[in-house]
Amino acid sequence: MEQGTATAPIDDRPYSPGLEGVLAGETSIALVDGANGRLMYRGYPIVELVRRSTYAQVAELLWTGMWPASAHLACAPLSKRVTEALRNLPASTHPMDALRTAISVWGAETSPGWPSTVEQARALTALAPTALAAFARLRQGLEPVAPRADLQLAAGFLTMLDDAEPDPAAARALDAYFIVGAEHGFNASTFTARVITATRSDMASAICGAIGALKGPLHGGAPAEVVNQLNEIGTPEAAAAWIDDALARGERLMGFGHRVYRAYDPRAAALREVAEGMGNTAEWLRLAVAVEDIALRKLAEKSPDRPLKTNVEYYTAAVLQGVGLPPDLFPSTFALARHAGWTAHVLEQNAANKLIRPDVRYIGPAERHLPVEAAG
Ligand code: COA
Repeated sequence: MEQGTATAPIDDRPYSPGLEGVLAGETSIALVDGANGRLMYRGYPIVELVRRSTYAQVAELLWTGMWPASAHLACAPLSKRVTEALRNLPASTHPMDALRTAISVWGAETSPGWPSTVEQARALTALAPTALAAFARLRQGLEPVAPRADLQLAAGFLTMLDDAEPDPAAARALDAYFIVGAEHGFNASTFTARVITATRSDMASAICGAIGALKGPLHGGAPAEVVNQLNEIGTPEAAAAWIDDALARGERLMGFGHRVYRAYDPRAAALREVAEGMGNTAEWLRLAVAVEDIALRKLAEKSPDRPLKTNVEYYTAAVLQGVGLPPDLFPSTFALARHAGWTAHVLEQNAANKLIRPDVRYIGPAERHLPVEAAG
């Protein structure tokens, strides 16, 4: 092949792989303070919100900037088209794909348009749990259960999954998990939603893209892996050898490490408190705490210069198991929680929009030309 003689122009502007450390926007929704292990939604510390607030109040806070003294957000009914779309999916469909499909059909039939509105944010956040619960039943050959207007989102979701009155302790624990998972700055899925919104696309498209990003195991897929990991380890006595082997094979310990946090993830601390308050997690939690101690020690020995601490997914696994969810619904349940944050960012992007379009450094061949005879 004929090589070109010119060299590619050298672009020596700074480049950060994975955009690590790059400021790519401004937000007033949440402060993620990685160095000090702090997370605040519009100034309120996450632990305070978990202890003294509900997901409905937190969602309103994220969307509007105001914390309402009371708020009610119930699961919304599905349209016939959304239900039929879910019914037509194979039972083997990944629940994240089912959720994305439901949102996509909602977008197709409601044409939400641009700019997005708080009403759309409420509608989508209320629709998602109904869609996921419906799919979870349909794949087992069961009929979906209609949502109840008197229940808040978490309780309503549990009721629709099992067609039974929700256990108040489980509903409260899931509501707390929803608060913790609601928002987290410019993570990959939220950034995806903002990129889509910045083109003046609609909220349904932005959330479909966000769900796609969250599906990846490095983002939202970790808690199910945490369960597998702990099941494989089995006992605290087996942990040290298991972890040594995994690290020697170059594997990652699920539920540890974070792009931003160098201190203990405050969400993990908040969820550990929730898990400790649940009656039915005691045995699993004992194993999780013992394994965590050993894992933190081993990770510190392996990477003394890059602190690798427990992340939110580790105790998410304990809470979601305690609530009675099957591990394959963990990532999509995380997606339900994150709807409030995603849609809040869509609204913020709308309010001060600028197309998001970074540059890329070209590292391919220099200019070259096809052989002359190729033209014939
Ligand atoms: N276990 C073992 N080593 C880990 C690790 C983990 N959980 N997380 C990071 N590392 C190591 C990497 O192997 C790498 O080591 P090296 O420099 O010797 O190659 C170094 O730490 C940096 O990792 P990198 O992937 O560049 O960091 P990141 O900021 O891009 O990664 C995560 C962040 C979350 C993707 C990463 O920590 C991870 O894969 N964790 C496990 C999955 C998980 O729990 N995800 C949920 C996140 S909330």
